[in-house]
Amino acid sequence: MLGEYTLLGTTLFACFMALQICLGRYFSTFKAKADVKTEERMEVMNEIISGIEVIKMYAWEKSFYEKIEEIRRAELKQIRRTSWIRAMFASFKLFLSQSALFLSVLGFILSGNVLTAIYVFTITSFFNVLRQTMVASVPTAVTTMTDAWISIKRITAFLTGKEISPNRIRPMSMLPGSTRQSGEQLPAIAFLGVSAKWSQDGERNVLNKFDLEVQRKETVAITGAVGCGKTSLLQVILNEVPVINGAVYVDGTISSTAQEPWIFPGTVRENIIFREAFDPTRYTDVCRVCSLDADFRQLPQGDATILEGKGFDQLRNFK
Ligand SMILES: Nc1ncnc2c1ncn2[C@@H]1O[C@H](COP(=O)(O)OP(=O)(O)OP(=O)(O)O)[C@@H](O)[C@H]1O
Ligand SMILES: [Mg+2]
Repeated sequence: MLGEYTLLGTTLFACFMALQICLGRYFSTFKAKADVKTEERMEVMNEIISGIEVIKMYAWEKSFYEKIEEIRRAELKQIRRTSWIRAMFASFKLFLSQSALFLSVLGFILSGNVLTAIYVFTITSFFNVLRQTMVASVPTAVTTMTDAWISIKRITAFLTGKEISPNRIRPMSMLPGSTRQSGEQLPAIAFLGVSAKWSQDGERNVLNKFDLEVQRKETVAITGAVGCGKTSLLQVILNEVPVINGAVYVDGTISSTAQEPWIFPGTVRENIIFREAFDPTRYTDVCRVCSLDADFRQLPQGDATILEGKGFDQLRNFK
């Protein structure tokens, strides 16, 4: 109806669409930064909740509060930026179709045409249809696509992360013979100049050129200051901390008991035999030695009771 003058309005739409895509790029950058900060905050928060007793005991509340505050401030800075962009998208929705309509009509009149109500109303409804797709759907598509893109990138980074090499712990038969005198029995665990660190980019080694030999049937206690690496030493043996230098030799199989007791969803009995074959004699013996019979009597189905979720007051004792 307006002929080529419609192009004036639609060009305006196209310009704003380009602007929206451009803003979408900024949106994704800010969103990714905000996500990293949110994750960091959650991590610290979890640490605080699990160690709240220690924090209270040493009155460390203030320094932890400040740490959380600092991360939250950085997170909010990015969230505020994404909100600005969202607000811009929302404002486009209000003025863009009217402005486009105005431009087209203006061009039509200025070139000497006569405008009637029939033209105006029909054109308005057409521009409203355009508005739906160009100003309402495009920003939604841009923001949801950005969200999806960021999530996919993070999942990909997680799934394609470097595997911890399973064979870093060597069997005792590979222990170099030069360090052995003839006839001497091989140790059960040996560390030769082991350096280990928690992460590749971490600056500090948790073990530094560490040597250790544990003989068979020997009981060894590892002592030291808080945070000096006692647990990390055990985790090197379990291949959970990457060894960057030297070698660890282990003979036989390893059984480890974590400091924090835990229960997996399943029956009491499954938690006790821990996926091994059920041996009635051994099982009865273990339960008797650990005085578990009295506890079993308190449970609705004895040792067949399923332990999961909340509501088990006895859970602490069982652990
Ligand atoms: N999961 C982890 N990721 C990164 N670094 C860690 C991790 N666990 C421990 N560390 C670091 O390794 C170092 C040694 O910690 P570790 O827990 O081995 O000490 P510890 O001697 O067992 O302390 P504690 O006496 O408190 O049990 C510390 O600097 C600690 O920050
Ligand atoms: Mg420890």
